[in-house]
Amino acid sequence: MIKKYLVLYGFAFSISLSGFAKDYLLSTNKTSLLISASEGKKSLFQYYGGKVTEDDIKGIYEAGTALNVETYPTFGVTPGIEKALSVVHADGTLSTDLVVDKVNQYQSEDGNILEIVMKDRVYPLKIKQFYKAYKETDIISTWVEILNTGSKPIHLHKFSSAFLPVKRGENWLTHFHGGWAAESMLEEEKLTNGQKIIANTDGTRNTQTDYPSVMLSVDGRPQEETGHVIGVSLAWSGNYIIKIIANNMMINLLAGILEDNSQYLLESDETFTTPELAMTCSLEGKGGVSRAFHRWALKYKLHNGYKERDVLLNSWEGVYFNVSQSEMNKMMREISSMGGELFVMDDGWFGDKYPRNSAASGLGDWTVNKNKLPMGIEGLVDYAKKQKIKFGIWIEPEMANIKSELFEKYPDWILKDDNRPLTAGRSKTQVVLDLSNPEVQDFVFGVVDDLMKKYPEIAYIKWDANCGIMNYASQYLPSDKQSHIYIEYHKGLVNVLKRIREKYPELVMQACASGGGRMNYGLLPYFEEFWTSDNTDALQRVYMQWSVSNFLPAAAMAAHVSAEKNHNTGRVTPLKYRFDVAMSGRLGMEIQPSDMSVEEKEFAKCAIESYKKIRPIVQFGDLYRLVSPYDNKGIASLMYVTPDKDKAVAFVYKIHHLRRAIIPDVRFYGLDKNKKYRITDLTPDGEKRSLLDGKIFSGNQLMTSGVSIIKDMKEEYSSLALILEEIK
Ligand code: DGJ
Repeated sequence: MIKKYLVLYGFAFSISLSGFAKDYLLSTNKTSLLISASEGKKSLFQYYGGKVTEDDIKGIYEAGTALNVETYPTFGVTPGIEKALSVVHADGTLSTDLVVDKVNQYQSEDGNILEIVMKDRVYPLKIKQFYKAYKETDIISTWVEILNTGSKPIHLHKFSSAFLPVKRGENWLTHFHGGWAAESMLEEEKLTNGQKIIANTDGTRNTQTDYPSVMLSVDGRPQEETGHVIGVSLAWSGNYIIKIIANNMMINLLAGILEDNSQYLLESDETFTTPELAMTCSLEGKGGVSRAFHRWALKYKLHNGYKERDVLLNSWEGVYFNVSQSEMNKMMREISSMGGELFVMDDGWFGDKYPRNSAASGLGDWTVNKNKLPMGIEGLVDYAKKQKIKFGIWIEPEMANIKSELFEKYPDWILKDDNRPLTAGRSKTQVVLDLSNPEVQDFVFGVVDDLMKKYPEIAYIKWDANCGIMNYASQYLPSDKQSHIYIEYHKGLVNVLKRIREKYPELVMQACASGGGRMNYGLLPYFEEFWTSDNTDALQRVYMQWSVSNFLPAAAMAAHVSAEKNHNTGRVTPLKYRFDVAMSGRLGMEIQPSDMSVEEKEFAKCAIESYKKIRPIVQFGDLYRLVSPYDNKGIASLMYVTPDKDKAVAFVYKIHHLRRAIIPDVRFYGLDKNKKYRITDLTPDGEKRSLLDGKIFSGNQLMTSGVSIIKDMKEEYSSLALILEEIK
């Protein structure tokens, strides 16, 4: 078949002279997606991988590498593969048969878009399938709009965001599993034929168990810097499913909102838009996938992505619920004297009739507890100003306690079934507000708005959510739309967050949900950062932060130095180790400073000063993961490099302590072979400096033979934080 190729708005598309397949090539710097679509025919997924040009399209077909699989398979007409869409039409028919109506290509501010408009051959149903190549990134995202063009309602039983076919080979799956205080532990397994499901059903905290982000290798066990790996992440904060179906011929990945108990009644003329599935394809292993996601996150998906994050002290592990003016003032004085820039008062500051002295009461009543804080928030804000630091505050605005004035006044704002006894969450008294209800959305918006109107100096909000959806019933949604609760909850939440962002674009917000329950790209566009885990144990954080870094950038990953004896694990680690681990993310502290010795405070001051120097490199640099803690090599190591490769920051952590254990040399990938670098120890422990401190090496040597750190790793919980600077 002879083909002719045209380029339009940065897209290449080919027109077959035979009049059949029209090919649409959508490319980023390093990746390409090839789809063929012709009016009246099926839209077909042909290729997704490393970048190809228009000249290669013919070859993709001739080499037999074209996949030729429907881009959005639907239930009911063809057998075989699992479908992405299943609809019950108004007359009860369950089958759908889509063909291409037209294809549109255009640019938005942030990307090049390919829009495939399809319609059912018989029934009044239209699907718009979008593929968007984000400018200056290697991310292509995809989602669909489902339009009921008929005059009667229809039911959506299945409505995936995407259907992604992947070549069968030695495919491995990388995903991130967890639970409270042990979020995001990496799991890697070779895919065998059958199905693998990654899903979450909590209702509000969708990354507490598994992430909606996975990697799929195409050519064997995934490596950090080599090999062909596809990464996908679903931008949704509610229940989700990622299903990977493998047989000898093909792998099919389906991703979207979890449809269980969420069938959707789509009214005449109504459009249902699925969340976006972001994808990248790397020929530089998992590291390439991560760097592509980080760049995309910083540029497009995190609120104020490229704005430096402050070093803060959070009061939680220091005082828990025992908030008081004097205690807060003391903590503010301490963090200010250690060089911190922000103090965050956590839970425990509110509740009048039902004071928040524990998790059992007060949620919903966002009035200051005058017994604890007689001078109110004003007193705190003023004191912060005196200490020359910013002030932040904790809220959990989507929730209420049964013991609250809010619950007494607005019982119908709660998700609950009036015919059943109420089940409650945290402390057996917590319930979830019904965010499908616009009045509740106004209330939640008002929690932030009232605080900001009264105290415009508030610079930071920690937004928590400590309860999943229980008592599955909405007193707002009609009876035929009760199955919309999981979805409408998150749409309502996003509505609120959009309003907040419009009005308060500079307010920094942290997404927290019982620790790391909200590390997803559904909510991150409204937040600067997320709380990674309530487990601040430095050793376990090495594992968790490693996993988190696969899809999320360090700028967003809150990492706090906590007490010497960790409150969660009881493990005792040196302050240097705790700092070196926290400095590889967005550094903060979560400690009672009055428990620290003078020497420790001095160390903290120096470490914070060092962090400020490396902050742009860590927060916005390119990440190279060097030695994985999951490989059990006795150490873990990672490095951030500036785009010009003139500076880098490397971290090394000892993770096992056995006499005569094998400790590998560390090779600093990601540098420039032709440059020379001086290494400086950023956090020397007293007089003890790394043996590498002050030494100069070529980039070539650092990348090929690497350095031995065995002598620096003698003690249990040894660690290094090193800066590498180009010598001109
Ligand atoms: C859960 C969060 O993860 C903690 O950091 C803390 O804010 C508590 N909630 C407060 O109740």
